[in-house]
Amino acid sequence: MKSYSIALIPGDGIGQDVTDAAWQVLSTVARHSGFTLTGTSFPWSCAFYKETGAMMPADGIEALRPFDAILLGSVGWPAEVPDSISLHGLLLPIRKAFVQYANIRPHRLLSGVEGPLKASDFDILCVRENTEGEYSGAGGRVHQGTADEVAVETSIFTRAGVERILRFAFEQARQRRGKLASVTKSNAQKHSMVFWDEVTRQLADEYPDVEVTSYHIDAMAARVVMAPESLDVVVASNLFGDILTDLGAAIQGGLGFAASANINPDRSAPSMFEPVHGSAPDIAHLGIANPIAAIWSGAMMLEHLGEREAAGMIMAALERTTIRGIGTVPGKDRTRSITAAVLAALD
Ligand code: NAD
Ligand code: IPM
Ligand code: MN
Repeated sequence: MKSYSIALIPGDGIGQDVTDAAWQVLSTVARHSGFTLTGTSFPWSCAFYKETGAMMPADGIEALRPFDAILLGSVGWPAEVPDSISLHGLLLPIRKAFVQYANIRPHRLLSGVEGPLKASDFDILCVRENTEGEYSGAGGRVHQGTADEVAVETSIFTRAGVERILRFAFEQARQRRGKLASVTKSNAQKHSMVFWDEVTRQLADEYPDVEVTSYHIDAMAARVVMAPESLDVVVASNLFGDILTDLGAAIQGGLGFAASANINPDRSAPSMFEPVHGSAPDIAHLGIANPIAAIWSGAMMLEHLGEREAAGMIMAALERTTIRGIGTVPGKDRTRSITAAVLAALD
C-alpha cells in the first residue's frame, strides 16, 4: 500500500481548527482510496515562540525535509509576536529553503457559492513567485527614530528566479485554456519590472501556443473585478501575487474558500499546502472559521502526491456540501458542522 508522511504545522489562531478539519477529510479519503497518510504534528507557532524564543527549532528545516509534504494552517498572532518576527521565523523560511518557488492559487466559485460579482463563470489560476522579489528581506533602516530616518526595502529579481516562475506559468497555461496574463508595474518600477516584461517576451517565443499579455498591476486589479472571465493563468511577483490572491479570494466568496500550494516543481524538497488566509484573530477560538480553503488545499496536496482520484473525491465532496448551502454564508455554520458535512459527502 502506498504511504505518505505529512508534516502538520497547524500554527496560530484558526490555523489549528482548519488544519484539524483538513486532516480529518484527508485521513478519511485515504482510507477509502487505499493509501496511508501518516501525520506528524509540529507545535511551531507564536505560542512556541513565547516558550522557546524561536518560531521553530534551529534544525526545524532539516526536521521537515524528509516528509513527502507539509500541511500548514496559518502563522501569526500579532497581539503577542510582531508579524515581522513570526512570518520570517517560520512560513517564509520554509518557502525559501525548500525552493517552493511557485505558489499556485485557484480562484473559482464552488457550486452554490455566491460571490460578490455578477460574473460567476470565472476560473483563474494565480501563479505567484514565492521566493524572492519584494520578499527578499534585503534592506535596512538608518538614523532610526530621528527626523532623518530612512528605511530601504530592496526587491531582488534574478534571471533564474524570474525565468523559472514564468516558465512554470507558461506550462500551466498550456495545460489549461492557453492564456497567460503577466503582471508588473513596469511603468513606474523601471528596473525589476522592465526586466520581468523582457523575460516574458523572450519566453513567449518558446510557447507559441500560449497567448501572453502583459498588464500593469493596477489595471489587473480592476480586471479581476470587472472581467474575471477574461483571465486564465495570471503570473505575478511575490507581493503583487499576494495582493491579487486576496482579491481572488474575495471574488470566490471570501478567504474561507481560497486554497494554495507552495510548490517545489523539481521535487528536490517537500512542497507545502495551506489556505491563503491567515490566523484570523478576530474569529479565532469561536469555532466558526470556514475550513473549506484548508480542505481544498489538502486536495491540492493529494494531487501533487499523484493521488488525483482522491483529490477529485475531496473536490466533489466540497461541492456536494456547498451546493446545499453549507459553509457558504460567513458565520452561519460552525467549522465542525461544515467538516462533518464534507465527511458525510465523501461516503
Ligand atoms: P486573515 O486572513 O487572518 O483575516 C482577514 C479576514 O478574513 C478576517 O476578518 C478573518 O476573520 C477573515 N477570515 C480569514 N480566514 C477565514 C476563514 N477560514 N473563515 C472565515 N473568515 C476568515 O488576515 P489578517 O487579519 O491580515 O492576518 C491575521 C494574522 O495572520 C497576521 O498575523 C498575519 O500576518 C497572518 N497571516 C498569515 C498567513 C499565513 O500563514 N499564510 C496569511 C495571511 C495572514
Ligand atoms: C500569504 C500571506 C503571507 C504572504 C504573509 C503572512 C507573509 O499573506 O500566504 O498570502 O504574504 O506570503
Ligand atoms: Mn496573503
